[in-house]
Amino acid sequence: MAFTVSLPFDSRLAADDLTGSRAHVRGLARAGILTEDECASVLSALDAVEVELLNETFVFVSSDEDIHTAVERRVTEIAGPAGAKLHTGRSRNDQVATDLRLFTKREIGVVIDKTLAMQRVLLDRAQEVGEAAVPGYTHLQRAQPVLLAHHLLAHGWALSRDIDRLIDARRRLDVSPLGAGALAGSSLPLDPAATAEDLGFADVFANSLDAVSDRDFVAESLFDLALLGVHLSRLAEEIILWSTDEFGFLGLADAYSTGSSMLPQKKNPDIAELTRGKTGRLIGNLTGLLATLKALPLAYNRDLQEDKEPLFDSLDTVVLALGAMTGLLASSTFRLDVMAEAANAATAAATDLAEWLVSNGTPFRDAHAIVGALVRKSLDEGIALRELVASSPELGPDAVFLVDPGIAVTRRTTPGGGGPEPVAAQLKAFATRIAADEARN
Ligand code: ARG
Repeated sequence: MAFTVSLPFDSRLAADDLTGSRAHVRGLARAGILTEDECASVLSALDAVEVELLNETFVFVSSDEDIHTAVERRVTEIAGPAGAKLHTGRSRNDQVATDLRLFTKREIGVVIDKTLAMQRVLLDRAQEVGEAAVPGYTHLQRAQPVLLAHHLLAHGWALSRDIDRLIDARRRLDVSPLGAGALAGSSLPLDPAATAEDLGFADVFANSLDAVSDRDFVAESLFDLALLGVHLSRLAEEIILWSTDEFGFLGLADAYSTGSSMLPQKKNPDIAELTRGKTGRLIGNLTGLLATLKALPLAYNRDLQEDKEPLFDSLDTVVLALGAMTGLLASSTFRLDVMAEAANAATAAATDLAEWLVSNGTPFRDAHAIVGALVRKSLDEGIALRELVASSPELGPDAVFLVDPGIAVTRRTTPGGGGPEPVAAQLKAFATRIAADEARN
């Protein structure tokens, strides 16, 4: 029993179990299997169980293997012989699949809400920092300056795709398995489509074997949560880097950082580190479930009980991480002066110098070589790049403005690019996208 019991974790499905049972009881009444009186008495017993569960006065007994058996036992104690009809035409196999779909459908909405809240903070902060620039990186080497807003929104768009995936997963899971019975349906005149409608499902199962053995929706949800976690982890990694003395781009608020038990000066980015670290669990939950599913013959097998703990854990982990990371982002200080200094390094304008030559007719490969040679000379001989640009036969005084502080970032004008013009348009598009996602959640 200690090995097989699932009550300690599946009691979390209690509310959905009651919802599923109510719909089933109404279906039994419609089929004439329960009289109206019996139906009323079972429904009121289910209400009484709900009150006991809410008030935590529900007494579990040692033979309660899972939440389904516990509720049915108690309903029968309260309603007597009518209660003993509750499980007619139903199995825990279609019951647990129904409960878990109802649960997941709702919880996905919670994750989306939290994700939207984080996107709102990214948008607010992007608007607040205006045209502040930051180095853009490739290979973690400074590449070209971009607006800080552009960098922040890059994380925001990744979260939009997460929301899209979650909504898509929720649409696909919106199918009722209730009425599949243990595996094959029933000899009783049940109407699964009517119960599906009663439960607010968009559709009903087409194949009873599939209905009780399908956990695609759990695997998909775990993937979506794992990838959302990976996105949070990448943002977390940048917060960790940016808050180092070496970068110095970002200051952590006291409330969102942690001291060291030994080193008095420390302000540690534990929230970001735990977000990064817990992403390992999210990935593990997905791979664990896929391994559980991979060799299962049809239809229900008890292995499927292993679907719940990873799902609960991933949901809890992501919801907590989203909340903590949202607060961390909202409360951090951007050191715009430090970012500007890094973004304004003369070498950050190298591509702009080359593109200036291109717009005057030089083939890009030649332009690349000319500017590359100037940068090398500047580094080797310790001569300021701006002087070399001024005295260059190809570039000359007309091109010097390109290495002036703050100029390079303004040169990225193409749609979706990192300069002020396209970023202004992007801020609007992102705000519109958030509002649209709020509306469809
Ligand atoms: N606790 C089980 C689970 O989570 C419920 C279904 C049990 N069904 C069965 N035939 N033993 O999957």
